[in-house]
Amino acid sequence: MKIAIGSDHAGFEQKAALAPWLAEEGHEVLDFGPANEDRVDYPDYAYRVAMAVADGRAERGVLVCGTGLGMAMGANKVPGVRAAAVQTPEFAELARAHNDANVLCLSGRFVDLDVNEELCRVFLSTPFEGGRHEGRVAKLDRGCLVEPRVRVVNHPLVAHKLSILRSEDTPTKLFRELVRELALFLGYEATRDFPLEDVQVTTPLETFTAQRVAGKKVAVVPILRAGLGMVDGLLMLIPSAKVGHIGMYRDHETHEPHEYYCKLPEDVDQRTCLVVDPMLATGGSAAMAIGYLREQGVQDVRLLSIVAAPEGLEAVMAADPAVRIFTCSIDRGLNDDAYILPGLGDAGDRIFGTL
Ligand code: RB5
Repeated sequence: MKIAIGSDHAGFEQKAALAPWLAEEGHEVLDFGPANEDRVDYPDYAYRVAMAVADGRAERGVLVCGTGLGMAMGANKVPGVRAAAVQTPEFAELARAHNDANVLCLSGRFVDLDVNEELCRVFLSTPFEGGRHEGRVAKLDRGCLVEPRVRVVNHPLVAHKLSILRSEDTPTKLFRELVRELALFLGYEATRDFPLEDVQVTTPLETFTAQRVAGKKVAVVPILRAGLGMVDGLLMLIPSAKVGHIGMYRDHETHEPHEYYCKLPEDVDQRTCLVVDPMLATGGSAAMAIGYLREQGVQDVRLLSIVAAPEGLEAVMAADPAVRIFTCSIDRGLNDDAYILPGLGDAGDRIFGTL
């Protein structure tokens, strides 16, 4: 088996002994360092080994630090890696049989070398049981850390552009451009998990295997009218997307949303719907739009709003247990007129110059 191994200074001595021992046991060992006992930071080596396992250069990883704990924490940040800090043979066996762990994290300070060798032997020879554990392991891999329901896109350029967007001095033309640009950033983040497939590409120099998005169908669904301002940004990112429109207005007395227009692509139920509205205030229109898409059979709905109020986030998440929300900022809250504070005013009026 191909094994990636690494340590920090506290695990170096055992790593230096385990690497040749694993080779004697018949494994191919890729040593990711360090090369000596100088002080280093365990996350640096946890990531190197974890990445090698995640991208298939190695089938399993072995990491040694003082306790094994820091290595496991670091390695588990890499998607696709299931790292277990193990000190007994029973745990080594169960980490494989039940958790399908692919990285073993050992303590170089509190566990003797002969015990760690035994842990490696059990870990590397125990198969995953599958069966009832399969679905659980799949849930681990999906992980809520990888796909939180609300993601705040906190890139420095986003913060910069948003600060200009918020300013009351920003004129319509610039406001419109910024809405388009921020929509692009939100779209970039909202499509991060789109699956890829291998394709053969011939460059002027050689043919190699590249990757392309695996036929993911997308519909951009602006909530009229402010959502229109975000459409171009998303179409720059996903030119093949279709555009559906949902017309809502908010009753200024009751703050309740009312639908007045709806036109969606015929195959909308086959598509990932990116619902766009620059402002998520009470969440009423967004929840209504999302509810409507669900009625049409849409499985994958993602809401993209440039600024969001906590009240709106809660309302949308309560109304729809599966929707994911992408925003550039979670603002303080709503005022008595249900405007977001500090917010950016009325996005529709500012985009279309109807103030
Ligand atoms: C290094 O002193 C030590 O903190 C490290 O090896 C590891 O035990 C961390 O989890």
